Amino acid sequence: MPVVALIGAQWGDEGKGHLVDLLASKARLVVRYGGGNNAGHTVVNHLGTFKLHLVPSGIFDPATVNVIGPGVVINPEVLLGEIKELEERGISTAKLFISERAHVIMPYHIMLDQLQEDSRGESKIGTTGRGIGPAYADKMSRTGIRIADLLHEETLLTRLRVVLEEKNRVLTRIYNAKPLSLHDTYLRYLDLGHQLSEHITNVHPIIHRAVEKDLPVLLEGAQGALLDVDHGTYPYVTSSPPGAAGACQGAGVGPTQLNSVVGVLKAYTTRVGEGPFPSEIEGPEAAVLRQIGTPWAEIGTTTGRLRRVGWFDAVMARYAAQINGIDTLAITKLDVLDTLPSIKICTAYRLHETQPEYPPATVAVLSQVEPIYEEMPGWQTPTTGVRRFQDLPDAAQAYVARLCQLVGARLGIVSVGPGRDQTIIVSEVL
Ligand code: IMP
Repeated sequence: MPVVALIGAQWGDEGKGHLVDLLASKARLVVRYGGGNNAGHTVVNHLGTFKLHLVPSGIFDPATVNVIGPGVVINPEVLLGEIKELEERGISTAKLFISERAHVIMPYHIMLDQLQEDSRGESKIGTTGRGIGPAYADKMSRTGIRIADLLHEETLLTRLRVVLEEKNRVLTRIYNAKPLSLHDTYLRYLDLGHQLSEHITNVHPIIHRAVEKDLPVLLEGAQGALLDVDHGTYPYVTSSPPGAAGACQGAGVGPTQLNSVVGVLKAYTTRVGEGPFPSEIEGPEAAVLRQIGTPWAEIGTTTGRLRRVGWFDAVMARYAAQINGIDTLAITKLDVLDTLPSIKICTAYRLHETQPEYPPATVAVLSQVEPIYEEMPGWQTPTTGVRRFQDLPDAAQAYVARLCQLVGARLGIVSVGPGRDQTIIVSEVL
């Protein structure tokens, strides 16, 4: 009964898309369960380089069924654009199904996300500006528009009339912005729903049957555990639960049906947007990690922002493993460290006279912690061509083993380049 959740165990951008693409040939079903087009999953395979924001990364395998689950927030225009691009490049989307329960990112969500960020000034979160927070807020306030609503003229008009009246009051009176027209918005979203209609369905039977038949199912995460709205570095988080519990909730499978949780971790750490980052580094070492000009460049796939970089933070990674029940690790981008003479790992935090075992909950305190580093020798040998763990330089093997020991999970995969084949499978994860 292999239902596996593959989740980000840092602040996102760990290389989840790259791994889902690799594992898709084994999975019969891939379910994207949360987030929206704040995510950017880069996939490099024999068909080319693709940047996916909403379509599950299993789309490249013709035999795999791909589902966008109820927990996702969908910008229909972005999704249609992605489907169109995939089709134009010869990739079939016939087996892509969209949950009718998923919520829609409406134009006022995007406007409000950007206006709220501007009004936060110094305290801005650094959101992707894609309307994610306001869309999830409406979902919880029960004022959201769902994908199913786009297919029912009367429902859409009735719901939109009520919601838009309130949104327009906020837009015009609080933010001095232009109101949205009910008529235009209604017609536009009705049309978008119509364009997506062949993919929209009740996805529950698809997921349920696959689980019941013991087919390999992969729940594809977006963002990362440290951006979790409950457990992350609040308020510098996203608005959904990107971890294993979110995978169950957003896909509609029970926790007892989950067989394994694979935590994806870069061999170092990155973060986009604002918020505390104890092991952050600057200077020449940062340039090595940033890899500008290479396919591994640390530039946000969605927003084009330069990612902040730092050493591997084992305190955060261990915490991420604990709150998500991570049993297996996929360590990506090991090759990025190939040229370094020595590599640091943050193994603990110092806070005044104490060493907190877990990340402090408040930003004010977390910003004060000092990382305590352990230093390991680098290997200064290219690893991009290595395909077996035992062929990695001894120092690289020792580094990876130390990360697993610190995090407290077994090793599943190591990746040494962006290509589908640049992966070392240490133990089967699906
Ligand atoms: P939002 O999800 O657009 O509201 O952004 C909230 C925070 O999460 C910001 O710091 C974003 O940079 C971060 N974030 C959201 N999605 C991703 C992602 O896919 N990768 C990395 N960071 C992300």
